[in-house]
Amino acid sequence: MCGIIAITRNPEAAYEQPLAGILIDCLERLEYRGYDSAGIALLVGGMENDGADDAAIWRIRAAVSKQSLKELRKHAPSAPGPPRSDSAGIGHTRWATHGRPSEQNAHPHLDCTGNIAVVHNGIVENWRELAEELSRSGHELASETDSELIAHLIEDELRMDTSTQLHGIEATRRALQRITGSFAIAVLDTRLDGGLVVARRLSPLVVGMGGGMCMAASDLPALLGLSGNYYVLEDGEIAELTPESITAQDLDGHARTLHPIHVSWDIEAAQKSGYDDFMGKELHEQPAAVMDTLLGRFVSDGKLALDETRITDDELREVDKVFIVGCGSSFHSGLVVKHALEHWTRIPTEIDISSEFRYRDPILSSSSLVIGVSQSGETMDTLQAIHLARQLNAKVLAVSNVVDSSITRQSDGVLYTRAGPEIGVAATKTFSTQIVALQMLALYIAQLRGILYNDETSLIMDQLRDLPRLMRHALDRDEAVKSVAEDIAGQRDLFYIGRNTGYPVALEGALKMKEIAYLRAEAYPAGELKHGPIALIEPGTVVLAIATKGRLQKKMHANISEVKSRGAKVIAVANDGDTSTAALADHVLYVPETVSLLAPVVDVIPLQLLAYHVARFRGCDVDRPRNLAKTVTVE
Ligand code: M6R
Repeated sequence: MCGIIAITRNPEAAYEQPLAGILIDCLERLEYRGYDSAGIALLVGGMENDGADDAAIWRIRAAVSKQSLKELRKHAPSAPGPPRSDSAGIGHTRWATHGRPSEQNAHPHLDCTGNIAVVHNGIVENWRELAEELSRSGHELASETDSELIAHLIEDELRMDTSTQLHGIEATRRALQRITGSFAIAVLDTRLDGGLVVARRLSPLVVGMGGGMCMAASDLPALLGLSGNYYVLEDGEIAELTPESITAQDLDGHARTLHPIHVSWDIEAAQKSGYDDFMGKELHEQPAAVMDTLLGRFVSDGKLALDETRITDDELREVDKVFIVGCGSSFHSGLVVKHALEHWTRIPTEIDISSEFRYRDPILSSSSLVIGVSQSGETMDTLQAIHLARQLNAKVLAVSNVVDSSITRQSDGVLYTRAGPEIGVAATKTFSTQIVALQMLALYIAQLRGILYNDETSLIMDQLRDLPRLMRHALDRDEAVKSVAEDIAGQRDLFYIGRNTGYPVALEGALKMKEIAYLRAEAYPAGELKHGPIALIEPGTVVLAIATKGRLQKKMHANISEVKSRGAKVIAVANDGDTSTAALADHVLYVPETVSLLAPVVDVIPLQLLAYHVARFRGCDVDRPRNLAKTVTVE
């Protein structure tokens, strides 16, 4: 998830503010989309009165986490350039997915000639094939990113078509047809005489017009105050922007009409995309985050594309025991995936809270695989756990959301989640993306060991790819969850019960309720209730029961009956149309059905929403809960 901005303005007009300053201001308002590096590119020179065209691209980039924009400001022009210069520019603030955060990997990226600059948000799924193809035809790639390929693809289209002079938008349109995956891009090209090309597929992009300028950005906050008229570029559309006009077409070249959007947000609301807080926004970003995490991971030969790996396939085949370590929600995602790992790979899998692992004298060897799961990649307990694992010769693989974080640098291999920055303290989209990332890893190991055949892996990958759709349906029930939240907001104590993969869902639901709504919420494996905790159930006690379909659903029904008969008020998470669970519960939070091993990503959504709404009914600050920090860098 990155932020992009593109502006073109009248080259004849005299401006007070340099375009560089405007672009950086816009990027500041997009920083919540990523902040590990940033850059801008400007058109300089241009067609002179004598007809000579000396147009060129001036570029500046910086990679200082959270400080890159300050760096850019230090070095950017402080006064407007001469007429014709300073009339078009693009900018980018990055959240690394392909290639570590560095100046070399920061956008904008240039083609070989330096006449085309591109900023990109998204994932080029077929980047390996394209990179090989472009290198073979003589292109020199200067970064480790998938994004840079787009600039070279445009150049390639121009090179291939020497007979006709390709109109500016046409080369980009053809280049984009060669890409699979997602993109929102802006292209600055010296041939466009101050115009810009923008396009999108699956990644967001809005365009605006007004005040002698046309502009595009990955999100509205960047444009607020610059333009009065906004339009959404629809999925699969490409547009050419001049200072006075926006002309859109689809990626097949058919003309399209842009539809205006009405915007009533102020800048702060816009940064949260209209949500009152970041947690609300991030919760709803989960389907997109899961989709991005899945994109392009299983490459054509059936191999899982790990982001960095110093672990060979042979070593993965030899693994005889897996240990997953993590804290809080990261621990819970490991608990979810332990089931799939053991089921698909038949490798015994242990799961530990990081701070316990390091002091329990674990038995590890060179055939152990330790997976450190950490959204931030900086959690001290998890870092210490993986240090120990390395000392004991185990192979260490990190699953993290932050490229080049400490955990990724200290591991043998890395699989990134691509959730984008998570600002709310409560983990939401990083929890769901950790689960799918770990599941892909489990599938890959199963395939390597010959436990699952390629077609079985493909079937499960299809089910994984369907998760974003199901998650969206679960999120659509927000209002129904809110009314249940209102009903229980005055409670003090809550119990969460589940079995199998439903148990970590119960743990995660309870953790959300504790950390943002400050309610005592305890989670138990449902079968364990009768061994003690059931003594706490009394008339009116609220019990959340994860009772979606699966081989243990009947047992969950029995557990629901046990607490009901002691007077509990039961709120069940159940699948659409499940009348047998509805008959037992006081309230049902419905979710769409999927296979049990994958269901936690969907089933957790109503519990996240419930905690969110209860917290808001109780007047709590959901983004900054008391006593908590987003990243815990102390033991
Ligand atoms: O950055 P990490 O994933 O290592 O963080 C681990 C926990 O601190 C984190 O999941 C915490 O429990 C969240 N606030 C839960 O919502």
